[in-house]
Amino acid sequence: MAASLSRTPGNAPKPIRTLKALRQTIRGCRSDGETIALVPTMGALHDGHLALVRLAKTKADRAVVSIYVNPKQFAPHEDFGRYPRDEAGDRAKLATAGADFVWLPDTALMYPDAFATRIVAEGAALGLETDFRPHFFGGVTTVVAKLFNQVTPDFAIFGEKDFQQLAVIRQMVRDLDMPLSIVGAPTTRERDGLALSSRNAYLSAAERAIAPTLNRAIREAAARAKSGQRPDGAAAAAAATIGAAGFASVDYVAIRDAATLGPYATGRPGRVLAAAWLGKTRLIDNVKI
Ligand code: PAF
Repeated sequence: MAASLSRTPGNAPKPIRTLKALRQTIRGCRSDGETIALVPTMGALHDGHLALVRLAKTKADRAVVSIYVNPKQFAPHEDFGRYPRDEAGDRAKLATAGADFVWLPDTALMYPDAFATRIVAEGAALGLETDFRPHFFGGVTTVVAKLFNQVTPDFAIFGEKDFQQLAVIRQMVRDLDMPLSIVGAPTTRERDGLALSSRNAYLSAAERAIAPTLNRAIREAAARAKSGQRPDGAAAAAAATIGAAGFASVDYVAIRDAATLGPYATGRPGRVLAAAWLGKTRLIDNVKI
């Protein structure tokens, strides 16, 4: 497929809104022998997403970015309604990162009347996020499986910022023999360590000044665990630091095995994962040990 067919004037990636048009586009790429990488997003794109797109372009000939704010991964009391949406802004940003196509399904397409299937993940999905957002991974796995079936990518790129989500998706792909490779990408951060997130837009100036403490505290916990301190003690010290900085509450700080998310043993690759509330905004982060 000639590169020009994937672009609209101004070099923005071509928006695709129907399954028929998507399948036609994918068939065109395939008939030209092209490989495809998918970057699933919920929009409100930032430099972290653009880094995923650039990584996608190193893996495959074509990068498809999906933008869909998935209602099934939000509980009724969560921020689905106010989640930032900016299709025009997102498409302009994607032009700078080299995305070829933007897949923009709507809810009638994703969850038509009588839709009644849900993928339930256990294993890596148990604990951590699930203790606080029990609906979350069922919503994520279901929408991601749909996106995989729609786009049929060779690769899908996910940020390590949502480390448990990445583990759950790897597990789903392995367990269900899905024919693609999952690629994890390092977290993009502000200069002060704060992980980029669409939800950072919710932070007031005062909260923004406090926010990097989350990353600092878990880096300290990682150093403590690496030097042999008991994981529980290192995690508790990090939670205390986060609370003292002005976070309203800490959902968890946990030190886990990086591969299984089970208990951490000194000397093995580990991960410190945390989620905490800063005012009304829930931030998550993780670092390696
Ligand atoms: O990480 C996200 O933005 C979402 O959970 C995902 C993977 C796009 C599914 O809606």
